[in-house]
Amino acid sequence: MSTISLPDESPMLRREFTYGVATSSFQIEGATESRIPCIWDTFCAQPNTIADSSNGDLACEHVKYWQQDVAMIADLGVDAYRLSIAWGRVMNEDGSANVQGLQFYKDLVTALRQKNIKVFVTLYHWDLPQYLEAQGGWLNRDTAYAFALYADVVSNALGEQVYSYATLNEPFCSAYLGYEEGIHAPGKVGQAYGRQAAHHLLLAHGLAMQALRHNVPNSLCGIVLNFSTAYSATDSQADIDAARMGDEYHNHWYIQPLLEGTYPDVMSQIGVDAQPHIAPGDMDIIAQKNDFIGVNYYTRAVYRSDGEGWFEQVVPQGHALTAMGWEIVPDAFTKLLVELDQRYDLPPIYITENGAAFDDRLVAGEVVDQQRIDYFNSHLRAVDNAIKQGVDIRGYFAWSLMDNFEWALGYSKRFGIVYVDYATQQRTLKHSALAYKAMLSNRL
Ligand code: FCB
Repeated sequence: MSTISLPDESPMLRREFTYGVATSSFQIEGATESRIPCIWDTFCAQPNTIADSSNGDLACEHVKYWQQDVAMIADLGVDAYRLSIAWGRVMNEDGSANVQGLQFYKDLVTALRQKNIKVFVTLYHWDLPQYLEAQGGWLNRDTAYAFALYADVVSNALGEQVYSYATLNEPFCSAYLGYEEGIHAPGKVGQAYGRQAAHHLLLAHGLAMQALRHNVPNSLCGIVLNFSTAYSATDSQADIDAARMGDEYHNHWYIQPLLEGTYPDVMSQIGVDAQPHIAPGDMDIIAQKNDFIGVNYYTRAVYRSDGEGWFEQVVPQGHALTAMGWEIVPDAFTKLLVELDQRYDLPPIYITENGAAFDDRLVAGEVVDQQRIDYFNSHLRAVDNAIKQGVDIRGYFAWSLMDNFEWALGYSKRFGIVYVDYATQQRTLKHSALAYKAMLSNRL
């Protein structure tokens, strides 16, 4: 079996570099009967939303098998586990806490701590309670305040047993895919919707940070953002300008307000009607100090001019693709990290997601996923290169611990380092999991 390895002098081989695996609540938990419905339950129930017409009703049945899953995580030898809390499992519609739901996460965190695994909690990985969506969801400013209340309840209950709290996972996906393009829940379409949702998500982050600072001053608090490194399709000035606009619109729209308290200039190039309403004081709430920023990276994006002063994304060419059709470009990962570091005064960075889907086959009890091992090798080296160029990166989480519900693509795409047979819920460590485990046990 081939291995995952890093250059001998890599700082990532030292024990203080944190390695983990990541999941999210809706993608693995199942047990919908013990929580209130969320926007993904509703979205999945609509026709033509999910590639295989599936839903999160069972997923990996993690609520049932959580003890076995904790044992599996511990067996991998990781330092940390990144999980998300289902908002609707811990809060009831009337604003009271769901005591049993909180207990589930308390037990999970305690079990992980007993195995000496650091717990990285994400408070919002896209599963907004449906009753809040009925009141406008992220288009309604009140949702940001409801989120802060939820953050207060969770951080009070779990406290500093949780090593790190991230407020949101990938607000780009919630806002753009969910409210602008409509390919994710809640399936709304419109630029004004997308921009307003983005602003309220960022506001929610800022308000939740205030609660976290108060309740868990010693936990590491921040946010997780996703980036696709922007490239221009050609050397023409029009395409270079388009790539810069695409970068501002999809990447910097989320990080610049957090770190500098302003939106990128590309805001002035969209119609006034589509610009978000920003109340006085909002940008100060958004731009609070973060202890870390989580970076999720999978691939790059290639842009060209649409001929009318705006950008469009082109289907990339020239690199091998994952089963998602995403180009494998590890250099773009280094470029992203180095450029973020040059542009901003960054807090410490954790790579909170990185990984790939391939068409895995379980044959005679084994999954030989050499392409995934290659992906991890090249991308860990990309992180190592960025560290050597001065970027302060503290940890790396493989996406994902196990195959799970891949949003609009349902169960048709497998990102896990552990294979899940959904009919039996049998988990099998793929060769990539064995290679990750071997690499972790060889650290200095
Ligand atoms: C990210 C999501 C994660 C997973 C990966 C493949 O955008 O955060 O839940 O679906 O993509």
